[in-house]
Amino acid sequence: MTDEKPTLEVSGLWAGYGEGMVLQGVDLAAARGRVTCLVGRNGAGKTTTLKTVMGLLPAARGRVLVEDADVTALPPYERAHAGIGYVPQGREIFPQLTVRENLQLGLEARGGKGQIDESIFETFPILREFLDRRGGDLSGGQQQQLAIARALMGKPKVLVLDEPTEGIQPNVIDEIGDVLRRISKDIAVLIVEQYLEFVLGIADECYVLEKGRVIMSGAPAELDQERLQQTMSL
Ligand SMILES: Nc1ncnc2c1ncn2[C@@H]1O[C@H](COP(=O)(O)OP(=O)(O)OP(=O)(O)O)[C@@H](O)[C@H]1O
Ligand SMILES: [Mg+2]
Repeated sequence: MTDEKPTLEVSGLWAGYGEGMVLQGVDLAAARGRVTCLVGRNGAGKTTTLKTVMGLLPAARGRVLVEDADVTALPPYERAHAGIGYVPQGREIFPQLTVRENLQLGLEARGGKGQIDESIFETFPILREFLDRRGGDLSGGQQQQLAIARALMGKPKVLVLDEPTEGIQPNVIDEIGDVLRRISKDIAVLIVEQYLEFVLGIADECYVLEKGRVIMSGAPAELDQERLQQTMSL
């Protein structure tokens, strides 16, 4: 089911790290019931977009809305409370903590209280098996599953992921794609990626970022393939 109203809406977003602006008026929307992807090559501003959405970087201009609530001025933890779950680039799980402890940290977005939902283990059976293992001892693909599960612990309205396929084996990438498609039935999913083939296989809608601007968007089949390939290989 696709909602009429987007769960996450970014409009006219400008942000950067000093004098120069990396993002130059980014518009995008992600709705429940679909997988939305933002693609672009190295340095296009994908991570900067997500950091600004999460409030790790201030927006110089523009707005970030979660179900119509303006979160642009809120600090990151309040955006997590508002319903944005974030899986950062490089996963950032805690290697010294156990899988269980890593998952429990995901409860912070809900005030630190609650149990690990059975649905987490239904989605990621391996995590139940490895609950007492240290995060750092998991494989890359397992760590990515842990990072996604940790973000889901906060029961987000929108899950945003920064390059979830980075450094992960092809067969595990397929599994992660399946999981994200399933998750998107219940909540909005926004994936930032460089791996075009993966994105085109799972996205309902795709935004193409070049030098901090969205240069085209639409369903994968609607995109100008030649221009897309060109943008990604520049
Ligand atoms: N902390 C920072 N300070 C200064 N400039 C930065 C910082 N982080 C990123 N940049 C610059 O901002 C631009 C966009 O970077 P960003 O990390 O958003 O790209 P990206 O699309 O996520 O790339 P990648 O695919 O390599 O992860 C780049 O030119 C980068 O050098
Ligand atoms: Mg990045």
